[in-house]
Amino acid sequence: MSDIVLPDDPSYGPEVQVDYPGYRSTRLRAPDRPLVTLPEELHALDGPVFGEGVLGELDDDLTRQHDGEPLGERIIVSGRLLDEDARPIPNALIEVWQANAAGRYRHEVDQHPAPLDPNFSGAGRCLTAADGAYRFVSVKPGAYPWQNHANAWRPAHIHFSVFGRVFSQRLVTQMYFPGDPLLDHDPIFHAVRDPAARALLVSRFDLDRTEEQWALAYRWDIVLGRGARGTTPLEDA
Ligand SMILES: [Fe+2]
Repeated sequence: MSDIVLPDDPSYGPEVQVDYPGYRSTRLRAPDRPLVTLPEELHALDGPVFGEGVLGELDDDLTRQHDGEPLGERIIVSGRLLDEDARPIPNALIEVWQANAAGRYRHEVDQHPAPLDPNFSGAGRCLTAADGAYRFVSVKPGAYPWQNHANAWRPAHIHFSVFGRVFSQRLVTQMYFPGDPLLDHDPIFHAVRDPAARALLVSRFDLDRTEEQWALAYRWDIVLGRGARGTTPLEDA
C-alpha cells in the first residue's frame, strides 16, 4: 500500500477522486477531456423507461436463479433510494453484481484460483417501490485479490447501478460491509477522500431484518445528489 494517498490528505476534496493515484487503472479511466453533452432528446422522455414487465420474478433473488442454492452466507440487502431532501425515488431500476462467496466473478476476465459456483451468477435487479425501497437476497460476497499493487485484496462489496427515468441517467457505486478489515487497505474505497462520505458506502448490520434460521440482513440507503454532504459517493463522477 505504499502508493496509497492517506485519507486525511488535506489537498483533496471530499468528492470521489476519479484519478486517484492509489487506484492504478483510474489513470486510464478518469476523463482527461471535457465532458460530452448528450443530445437534449435523451433527457426529454416524459415516461419511465422501465416497468414491471421487464423484470423476471427471480431477478431480485440471487440465490434462486439456478437449480440449487449457492454456497455461502445468505444475506438480505435492503434500503431506500432517496434524493438529497430524503424524498423517495420510486420506479428506479437498481442493478447489482458481485463475486460469489469464494470471491470469484462469473466473468472470463476473473481467472484467480477460487471456485465458481454453478448455482450463482452474481447479478440481480429490481425496481424501487413507491417509498423508494429496494431489496435483494444473495450470499455475502468473498474478498478477492486484484492486481493493483502487491498483495492487493478488495474488501467484500456489491456493485450497484441506479438508472433514472432514462438511459442517460445512470449512477454506479459500491456497497461495503461493516467491520471489514480490508476497508483500511482499499484504494477504491479511499478514492472517496472524505471519511464521512466513505462511511456512507458501508452498510450496517440490520438485526430487525434478519430472518431467523434463514438469513442475516444489511441495510444500505442510497442518497442521490452529487457531491452534496450526506449523499452517496458515486464512481462515475
Ligand atoms: Fe468488484
